[in-house]
Amino acid sequence: MSEVRALLLTDVVDSTQLSERLGEAELAALWAAHDRLARDLLPVRRGREIDKTDGMLLLFEAAADAVAYAMAYQRALAKLNPPLKARAGVHVGPVILRENSQSDVARGAKPLEVEGMAKAVAARVMSIANGGQTLLSADARNALGEITLRVESHGHWRMKGIAEPIELFEVGEADALFVPPPDAAKGYRVVREGDVWLPARNIKHSLPAELDSFVGRRETLAELARRLDAGARLVSVLGIGGTGKTRLITRFGWSWLGDFPGGVWFCDLSQARSLDGIAYAVAEALAVPLGKEEPVTQLGNAIAARGRCLVILDNFEQVSRYAEETLGRWLKRATQARFVVTTREVLGLVGEETLALAPLPAPDAAVLFVQRAESAKRDFQPTEEDRAAVDPLVKLLECLPLAIELAAARVRVMPPRTLLSRMSERFKLLSSTGGRRDRQATLRSTFDWSWDLLSLPDKAALAQLSVFEGGFTMESAEAVLDLSAYENEPWTIGTVQSLLDKSFVRRASDGRFDMLVSVKEYASEHLRTEGRFPGSGPAALAAAEARHSGYFAGLGEKRAVAGACVEIDNLVAACRRAAARGAAEESAGALEGAWAALNLRGPFSVGVELASIVSGTPGLGKAARAIAERIAGSALDASGRTAEARTHLEAALALAREAQDPWCEARALANLADLRDGRREEARASYARALALARELGDWDLECKVLSGLGALETQLGRIEEARAHWEAALALARKTGTGAGRAACSAIWAACT
Ligand SMILES: Nc1ncnc2c1ncn2[C@@H]1O[C@H](COP(=O)(O)OP(=O)(O)O)[C@@H](O)[C@H]1O
Ligand SMILES: [Mg+2]
Repeated sequence: MSEVRALLLTDVVDSTQLSERLGEAELAALWAAHDRLARDLLPVRRGREIDKTDGMLLLFEAAADAVAYAMAYQRALAKLNPPLKARAGVHVGPVILRENSQSDVARGAKPLEVEGMAKAVAARVMSIANGGQTLLSADARNALGEITLRVESHGHWRMKGIAEPIELFEVGEADALFVPPPDAAKGYRVVREGDVWLPARNIKHSLPAELDSFVGRRETLAELARRLDAGARLVSVLGIGGTGKTRLITRFGWSWLGDFPGGVWFCDLSQARSLDGIAYAVAEALAVPLGKEEPVTQLGNAIAARGRCLVILDNFEQVSRYAEETLGRWLKRATQARFVVTTREVLGLVGEETLALAPLPAPDAAVLFVQRAESAKRDFQPTEEDRAAVDPLVKLLECLPLAIELAAARVRVMPPRTLLSRMSERFKLLSSTGGRRDRQATLRSTFDWSWDLLSLPDKAALAQLSVFEGGFTMESAEAVLDLSAYENEPWTIGTVQSLLDKSFVRRASDGRFDMLVSVKEYASEHLRTEGRFPGSGPAALAAAEARHSGYFAGLGEKRAVAGACVEIDNLVAACRRAAARGAAEESAGALEGAWAALNLRGPFSVGVELASIVSGTPGLGKAARAIAERIAGSALDASGRTAEARTHLEAALALAREAQDPWCEARALANLADLRDGRREEARASYARALALARELGDWDLECKVLSGLGALETQLGRIEEARAHWEAALALARKTGTGAGRAACSAIWAACT
């Protein structure tokens, strides 16, 4: 006969690590203390021990007893030396109890056996909990009734061997952390979408991957969750560079994904300088193609359409003057969306809540140091003295994560005790010369200290790398870095590797590298300031920028759009700089690449702006002017300014003919014919000429484009047979050239018309 009981399962976490750290005798004593306290707590709650391994299986009459026991047990574990943490799971359900006979017990059997599904459920619930966390099944929650402890839902979970997802709750003291447990092999969070349960991890998002371990911050994460739960629409996370703002909100996004069925959208504004720049970064994160209407409105609609979503805007400080026009409007339009912003200063929007991010608490800072030291030096084996140096060292660094990472990268060459003495000296020097010791100054001194230890070529390379916008590859670094002035001209790849080892440069994604915003600012300042290293100064900046724009001007349209246009920021910067320098031809080359990317990804207005800057560059040859005019026309057309577009395209056509550039002529003709301003006969003639030129030039891409343009035109004119012939030809060509995108587009148009 089964009876309903409460089952509590516990499991001490990291017990294998403990056994590595402690001696056997110490470990045995710790377990003895654990068992003692666990058993001493039982009678008060009328609990019964059923089984024991690393944790325990306990049986209680009522859910309230099981929960009260769990709370007391967790508190007692934290007081052990070393403190322990356990996961705990409570479930209430029917169990079959079976007493073993006296003689079996005498032979070592447990006195009481518990059978039934409820045991499996309790085990699954427990296995999902974080260390120190007590989770309840929905049945346990219901059986509990009203209690004074805090109980919060962590959503529904599908668990191995259990038919339907179960809602899990966490119970804890009012000040406990309530961090959602991560998905595990045997249980993962699900959300209901219509009448099916989808894994929460399938929720759409654009969060960057976390490439190294995350430390601490549980209180802050929980606080952020509390604010949003309590109805905050906008929370600004404040702090100086290097405090860990980006890292915190990235972790928040990953951990709370399940709470936002509308997705979590991470927008990096570090490249944004204008209203359009913001719109572009957000459109990119949300994967919204921007049409011809006003972008901020379009994005407001797109965010609203996602319902309960989280939009993260990282690095808002440099565009904060546009906060009202962008974020302010989105807050009003998308009423279910939540926004989290990181910024060095408050934005000042209505309803904005702020969360000042302090550096890490000292123990977490020490953990971060050790972890980064371990990954910098595989066989990092600190002596007692080194261990003792870590705490004062992180204190000296004011527990600033970025400062800690820079210092820890140095354990490759000097142990923590040496680090501590060298850095102390340096910082003393700073305060004796009247330097202020605030966090900003600490970070600065850490940068300086770490910089001073670089070899000269490493310094020059780091400084020069600051001319990249949006990251670099080994190939582009080789093209842009010039280390020939330094002894035994070092190998670029080796230099980049050395900067990676020292945490100045980081690996971004497949084959790409970048620098944190604060590092880039520091490096850039050194490049442009005279006397920072032999060779630094305005001339060095100009030379590095010239190599940068030279490289990107020659990239070509195909590579400009490769990898979902990853080089777009470099291309735009290259174009602006070449024009500013008066390198006319180069600016036109960079413009072609930049527009190829902008045309796909926006903002179109930047295309208009760049084309006009390039057109105004003195000394621009006819062919280059033709390119600039054509791109101005194309960008204006994309922005819906058809009449202006025509003027520029006609100018481009005339210039291309004068310069005898059939390639540009053909494209200008095609662009002109693409204009939808009702001049259909003229358009047909332009297409025809463009087609002939494209065939002469053997430019299949253009030929394909022109053919589909012709198809569209004939459809408008109601000449379906002609349209069909053009599209068939376009499709055949796309198949031949193997351009997947072209083929897909043609097939789609084709299907739509037949
Ligand atoms: N809690 C943390 N755990 C692990 N690493 C962290 C943590 N906080 C910050 N870091 C690391 O410190 C560096 C600076 O943090 P970041 O978030 O970029 O600072 P901010 O955005 O405030 O300038 C990054 O390399 C980041 O990964
Ligand atoms: Mg940041």
